[in-house]
Amino acid sequence: MKKTILIVEDSQKLADLFEQALSPMYSTIQAGNLKAAQNAINSHEVHGILLDIQLPDGSGLDLISAAKQKRPECVIVVVTAFGTIQLAVEAMRLGAADFLEKPVDMEALPRIFAKHLDLFDTDELVFASKAMAEIVATARRIATLPFPILITGETGVGKDMLARFLHRCSQRRAFIALNCANLTQELTDSILFGHIKGSFTGATETKEGLVFQANGGTLFLDELCELPLPIQAKLLRFLDSGHYLPIGGQKELKSDARIIAATNQDVKRAVEEGRMRQDLYYRLAVMTLEIPPLRKRPEDIRPLIQLRLAHLRRILGQPVEITEEAVQFLMSYGFPGNVRELFNLLDRAAAMSCGRISHDFLAGQLKRSGHSGQQAELLANSDQDNTETEAKAMTSPLLFSHTRKATEEQEKRLIQEALAATRYNKTAAAKLLGVSYKTLLNKLKRYALI
Ligand SMILES: Nc1ncnc2c1ncn2[C@@H]1O[C@H](COP(=O)(O)OP(=O)(O)OP(=O)(O)O)[C@@H](O)[C@H]1O
Ligand SMILES: [Mg+2]
Repeated sequence: MKKTILIVEDSQKLADLFEQALSPMYSTIQAGNLKAAQNAINSHEVHGILLDIQLPDGSGLDLISAAKQKRPECVIVVVTAFGTIQLAVEAMRLGAADFLEKPVDMEALPRIFAKHLDLFDTDELVFASKAMAEIVATARRIATLPFPILITGETGVGKDMLARFLHRCSQRRAFIALNCANLTQELTDSILFGHIKGSFTGATETKEGLVFQANGGTLFLDELCELPLPIQAKLLRFLDSGHYLPIGGQKELKSDARIIAATNQDVKRAVEEGRMRQDLYYRLAVMTLEIPPLRKRPEDIRPLIQLRLAHLRRILGQPVEITEEAVQFLMSYGFPGNVRELFNLLDRAAAMSCGRISHDFLAGQLKRSGHSGQQAELLANSDQDNTETEAKAMTSPLLFSHTRKATEEQEKRLIQEALAATRYNKTAAAKLLGVSYKTLLNKLKRYALI
């Protein structure tokens, strides 16, 4: 049985677009105002809500507590206009699981719900590679120690997953997560360490921070390198002493929250560039778990496929199979987006190919999505050149090491496609292409694209 998502959005056009994006994976219901949404929650089993904040008969925020009361496991994702991050934070405080800024990335929408709904379905970590077996063994060993842990690795390799695994093995109480990206210094300070009533305009009551809430538990700080520098200093003080000062507080408070931090950035480079405090890095780096990209551990691809297909059978309520040829194809593909990309690809394929995933279908999908045909092929050939790719390690121009075969024109076109696909976000484009940011900049200069 597919899970049901309630779309609460007053613009019919937008609601239809949301429905279109979600419908391959979920059943959907639409509600154009708060009253209709409340009725839908009362009369249907709703697993998730996509919630616009500004509605004709009131604020979407008012629905959050009511919905959570009725269905505590319901996953609420709010949609906010650009620049209303404060509202989004308030929504999270009330119990929303995530927020999206307009314009909403429709491709990412099903994944966001899957990520949160997954938490109730599976937290199973699967692997067959020696590299992952070693990481998991180390994780088990260090899980119960009181020290902080740093998890590094490219986007989609499983850092969140490993953090939750560490938490489960630690036997600690709550697991509290904060994504440090896109938050101002003041907001991060208040969210993490709390504030005293009257300490700044708008501080109408005293609020505890996440450090307090995670006492006895785990505090997971995702995208660590995005943490503002003064907050990094405060975090270091907390790591060293277990003490912290809420905004406007007179007296330091104590918490034994265990910090697990994660980043997909090159931390050493962040230190060199002054975005990350060196002392904090040294403090965290004592216990670092570095998850290798999926292309460096292709043995993991088969068990991951099996795990995802079992999950898809459950949520789609129908058989889902994959041909051996398709498995082989996936095992040789480069996966710049790692496990997340593999799962997205399988989700799309399962939803659209009547339960039988073939090589041709996958190849077609890769051609149509962000990757051009050439890139899919170039990446697919990646492990033929494994030694060369390995030697170049993380900055390995996975794409460019194979473009010897391609012309410069092709390379230029791939870069342009990647830039268009990421709305000219160069960091994301570099990731998509599987090259370092610096390599991309060099190429952009060389081809006079900037
Ligand atoms: N070893 C694994 N076994 C099962 N599922 C996995 C494994 N590794 C990753 N996944 C799944 O892959 C997806 C991406 O993983 P996750 O969110 O942990 O990546 P991440 O490294 O935190 O990415 P980002 O840097 O973008 O935050 C999730 O759906 C997760 O459940
Ligand atoms: Mg993550």
